[in-house]
Amino acid sequence: VSSPLKPGARVGILGGGQLGRMLALAAARYGFKVHVFAPEADSPAFDVAAERTCAPYEDQTALSAFARSVEVATYEFENVPERTAALVGGLTRLQPGATALATLQDRFAEKSFVAGLGIRTAPFRAVGSSDELEAALATLGRPAVLKTRRFGYDGKGQALIRPGDDAGKALAAIGGVPAILEGFVPFERELSIVAVRSADGAIAAYDLCANEHRDHVLAETRVPAGVSAATEEEARTVAARIAEALGYVGVLAVELFLLVEDGAERLLVNEIAPRVHNSGHWTIEGAETSQFEQHIRAIAGWPLGSPARRGTVRMQNLLGDAVEQWPALAAEPGAHLHLYGKARTAPGRKMGHVTVVRPA
Ligand SMILES: Nc1ncnc2c1ncn2[C@@H]1O[C@H](COP(=O)(O)OP(=O)(O)O)[C@@H](O)[C@H]1O
Ligand SMILES: [Mg+2]
Repeated sequence: VSSPLKPGARVGILGGGQLGRMLALAAARYGFKVHVFAPEADSPAFDVAAERTCAPYEDQTALSAFARSVEVATYEFENVPERTAALVGGLTRLQPGATALATLQDRFAEKSFVAGLGIRTAPFRAVGSSDELEAALATLGRPAVLKTRRFGYDGKGQALIRPGDDAGKALAAIGGVPAILEGFVPFERELSIVAVRSADGAIAAYDLCANEHRDHVLAETRVPAGVSAATEEEARTVAARIAEALGYVGVLAVELFLLVEDGAERLLVNEIAPRVHNSGHWTIEGAETSQFEQHIRAIAGWPLGSPARRGTVRMQNLLGDAVEQWPALAAEPGAHLHLYGKARTAPGRKMGHVTVVRPA
């Protein structure tokens, strides 16, 4: 473990979306100078960074200059190409490291890793051809969910295969790329746990989040999730074991399915995000230390902050046109409004969020 970064040090962020923007704001709060690398000129994180590089992830010259300019680099999304991560990681400290990224950006590697720890997931099979898809369907049954191994997000790159559906069409719909087939999980609810691991191995976790999606996009998070203390404890253990097994440094989020079997709650891991997560946005006002501060603390080699919750929390995403409600939200006492500064609105696009914290 190297010595903690001093205020004034330069922190690099790969990716320029709202997660990068909120990471940059948290880093600035601690006196760090943030350098954002992103391919899109109108990246929300550029607005709040000390330094910006606008270049493709394949631009080795720009990447090298970026990496050399920072004392530590991190990323705000898991689809950073492997070669980009390797190049940056060879020139500066990259955290979370390459192992976490390689394992968690491929759904098959990810589920195999989780299952290898003895943690429950949906049943799954790798699918590389239509023959393999037929074989996997014969084993896992229908309905089943076909997902691309890489690059999926917000339900993109997925197809549900119901009884009677043409499996070949589903494979074509996701582009015929390497895939994973998962048994359909008849979950009661969707939960997530956001946790952080420091360079010296300390772990902190927030309370479980209850998540509601609209068209596969997170719409609302509520905390507490209203599950049993045993389920809260199990989620914490799951997150800690995953973080430890990866030698992880930084914030990660574990998306979970809650099943109720014979009246007992059971958790299944759906996916792991090697980054700050939308379901953790409530921590900005709703916890003693936000997920963004925790991530910056961890990668800077600082001690972790307290994840204690300050009340009963509700976070709502402003998706698409909902952002037009900003004047009313700005006038609402106790509504903590966040706007991401995106120029273009599109249906389902994450334009901002609003958090309300009520005394517990
Ligand atoms: N095996 C499954 N069974 C039932 N629903 C699923 C399954 N996998 C995914 N889903 C649903 O689809 C959503 C998106 O899937 P997920 O694997 O989390 O991909 P993404 O990267 O798009 O978030 C989940 O939040 C859940 O609602
Ligand atoms: Mg997901």
